[in-house]
Amino acid sequence: MRADPVVYQVYPRSFQDSDGDGTGDLDGVRARLGHVARLGADAVWLSPIHPSPGADLGYDIADFDDVDVLLGGMAAWERLRAEADRLGLALLLDLVPCHTSIAHPWFRARPDFYFWRDAPANNWRSAFGGSAWVRDGDTGRFFLSSYFPEQADLDWRNPAVVAAMQGVVRRWRERGAAGFRLDALQGLLKDPELRDDPPAACAPVLPTHPEHAALDHVRSQNAPDVGEALAALRTAAGTDAWLVGEVFLPTALLRPYLGPLDAAFALELLHTRVEPAPLRAAIAAAYATGKAAWVLSNHDFARLATRAGRANERVLAMLLLTLPGPVFIYQGDEIGLGEGPGAEEPVDRFGRDAHRHPMQWDASPSGGFTTGEPWLPLVDPPARSVAAQEEDRGSLLWLYRDLIALRPELGPGLAFRDSAPGTLVLERGAHLVVLNLGGAPAPAPAAGELRLPTSPAAALEPGRIAPHSGWIARRSPWV
Ligand code: NOJ
Repeated sequence: MRADPVVYQVYPRSFQDSDGDGTGDLDGVRARLGHVARLGADAVWLSPIHPSPGADLGYDIADFDDVDVLLGGMAAWERLRAEADRLGLALLLDLVPCHTSIAHPWFRARPDFYFWRDAPANNWRSAFGGSAWVRDGDTGRFFLSSYFPEQADLDWRNPAVVAAMQGVVRRWRERGAAGFRLDALQGLLKDPELRDDPPAACAPVLPTHPEHAALDHVRSQNAPDVGEALAALRTAAGTDAWLVGEVFLPTALLRPYLGPLDAAFALELLHTRVEPAPLRAAIAAAYATGKAAWVLSNHDFARLATRAGRANERVLAMLLLTLPGPVFIYQGDEIGLGEGPGAEEPVDRFGRDAHRHPMQWDASPSGGFTTGEPWLPLVDPPARSVAAQEEDRGSLLWLYRDLIALRPELGPGLAFRDSAPGTLVLERGAHLVVLNLGGAPAPAPAAGELRLPTSPAAALEPGRIAPHSGWIARRSPWV
């Protein structure tokens, strides 16, 4: 895989349903893979596809070596892989190395794989709130769970756990996975003595549950020797596998994770205010790591169109796709899919379904997603769909395609120029990217040859940029 791929995130249960049960599946993904190829992406990241009781919709895995029957089973994976090969798309799986479902056979058969104690061993908190120690009804003992109580943390200081997970990685490489998105790596390795986390001295940089945010996770997470555990995953995956880490930590703490990875998500960028100064600071810090994977939205947080605001969705698309290095696009962002109503508890236990509504392929009430009752309602297919935007050369979908096509020509490096309030100006090799997030026209550098505007009006006035607009131009030799 190229070093700076465009990766398209597919959330399988919301992409395309092929059998009318209202839930997306892998044959559905296969049927729609042409959309991803036509976008110009290099790879697809599939959120977890393995058998799962669904407490965390796939992130609670009961068998790492199979594919959920709800998604079509292993045969559907083989079909998907063949189609991806045909289209030249790499498939990245979501590897969840830090925990399993309590329905995984290991949970009972291999207690040494987990953290079992007679009583809570410390003050650690779950990311979803409450103590991280869960009382098991069968034994009366407690196990460590950093997420939902149905997810038990694996003990990566046990070599047998490392070997088991290396086996999982090897077997999926043999089945055709080009690499992995590695889930929640900040919790992979914990303090060997399981000491208490101290109280937090300041507010968290990344958003977390208030009970979780009350502690500074220096023992429960982010062990200094985490690089060794990651090196074991790299060994199993092979040097040619592509590995991107989801490390839910501020950029300043990413360094120990980066060696064995190809990239780590720049999550501070995803969470920063959509204003020039904080965007610039978050990008500059992540770029300095040399391994930033750029991402503005995923299945865990508010969708880009809603968070950034409709007015700036094109400007943000241009920003994302002109950054150097790997870029991730969450399904639906390319048509401006916004937040939906989500679902109530107990269906949605942590308020994230609003970001997971189905893809809108056409303007019909089902959006072309399913012939059945969708697991979550469609948001607004009459207002936005792939089919409608396909017909409109000025649509957001076409802007994504044009940006992806232009990316390889932008040239190396990244430098910011100081610019007028409300604007960001980036130098990419011989190109200049000028973005105006503000609602008023702003002064802009003189453009050389205009390569791509966010809209025809973006660069109409020389030396000015229209509100909520962006353009990419070849730099004129004299500026
Ligand atoms: C991060 C995933 O993106 C999220 O959906 C999941 O709940 C946690 N990791 C736990 O696996």
